[in-house]
Amino acid sequence: MEPIAEQLIPFAVRAPSGHNTQPWQFSVGQDRIRIFPDLSRRLPVVDPDDHALFISLGCALENLIIAASHQGLVASVEYFPADEAEACVRVRLSAAQGADENVDALFRAIPERQTNRRDYDGRSIKQSDRARILEANLRDAVELRAFSVGDPDIEPIIDLVREASIIQFNDPAFVAELLSWIRFSRPEVSARQDGLVGEAMGFPSVPRWLGRWIMTRLVKPEGEADRQEKAIRQSSLLLLFIARSHDKGHWVDIGRSFERVVLTATSLGIAHAHVNMPCEVEPIRRRLAAHLGLNPGAQPLLLIRLGYAKKRLPPSPRRPVDQVMRQP
Ligand SMILES: Cc1cc2nc3c(=O)[nH]c(=O)nc-3n(C[C@H](O)[C@H](O)[C@H](O)COP(=O)(O)O)c2cc1C
Repeated sequence: MEPIAEQLIPFAVRAPSGHNTQPWQFSVGQDRIRIFPDLSRRLPVVDPDDHALFISLGCALENLIIAASHQGLVASVEYFPADEAEACVRVRLSAAQGADENVDALFRAIPERQTNRRDYDGRSIKQSDRARILEANLRDAVELRAFSVGDPDIEPIIDLVREASIIQFNDPAFVAELLSWIRFSRPEVSARQDGLVGEAMGFPSVPRWLGRWIMTRLVKPEGEADRQEKAIRQSSLLLLFIARSHDKGHWVDIGRSFERVVLTATSLGIAHAHVNMPCEVEPIRRRLAAHLGLNPGAQPLLLIRLGYAKKRLPPSPRRPVDQVMRQP
């Protein structure tokens, strides 16, 4: 089983993660794979309680499960088992009885999927595709709500995206953390193999000093809010992922749900990007939850836009697998 497990990990690490921190480590034992959170890759300013870190872990887990299913294996998953010395997600693989009919399309979408922050063309998504995307949420722990761009109920959400963007870009600690994860030039990208590729965020490839100057002098909070509003208005659909409770297991489930949803969208030629700001700024998150009338304890944790992108972006790097492996 070990060689098979090792074949699955390159697909797991293609998962998205906040600021492309890739906050995961893997160990492969005789009959199991463990996924550990890598807490040295936390984002203390934008993600102080680590919920985005565990969402990212859930994305990697879902890719692993899909890749295993593609190999005819079924995964049984335990979240944070008490008999482990360290917090981890444990996956045991065994031969599957029947085939998951969606798995080939999802598997093919793993290397294709990307966060696409480019312009979308505003076309609406046909009803049958929209239904397939929403049905990809298989986790009971997650409520998925869809908002069509153009409907009046989207306006209060746009206002909260604007407000949260302005708060974030007025916060020097947020900007400093973001800057520390942007790789402005191609040599920086090749050296680090993580972080946000400047070119994927709309910057040309420039030396770090110039990228830093552009970010601190030319990027203004109001301008950022305008950019996000424009991006939403040219999208087709907003999707909000809501955790029914606020704990590590629910965060992992949000990641699993999100990954399946965006792989399904990718397989249908539909792009996605994050407009997470109202989920990241806690007072705004509370107002969003109140506006939507969520049950006490339920948390809106990811907001994404979907639509048809005019162009793809350069792919984001990943660290080589040997850098994310631990000895069992
Ligand atoms: C939990 C989570 C939060 C994210 N938040 C944002 C965000 O606020 N803004 C953004 O542009 N991208 C966001 N992303 C997308 C990541 O930046 C992206 O996944 C990463 O850079 C890797 O790029 P890729 O998705 O194209 O492979 C988020 C991704 C995850 C999993």
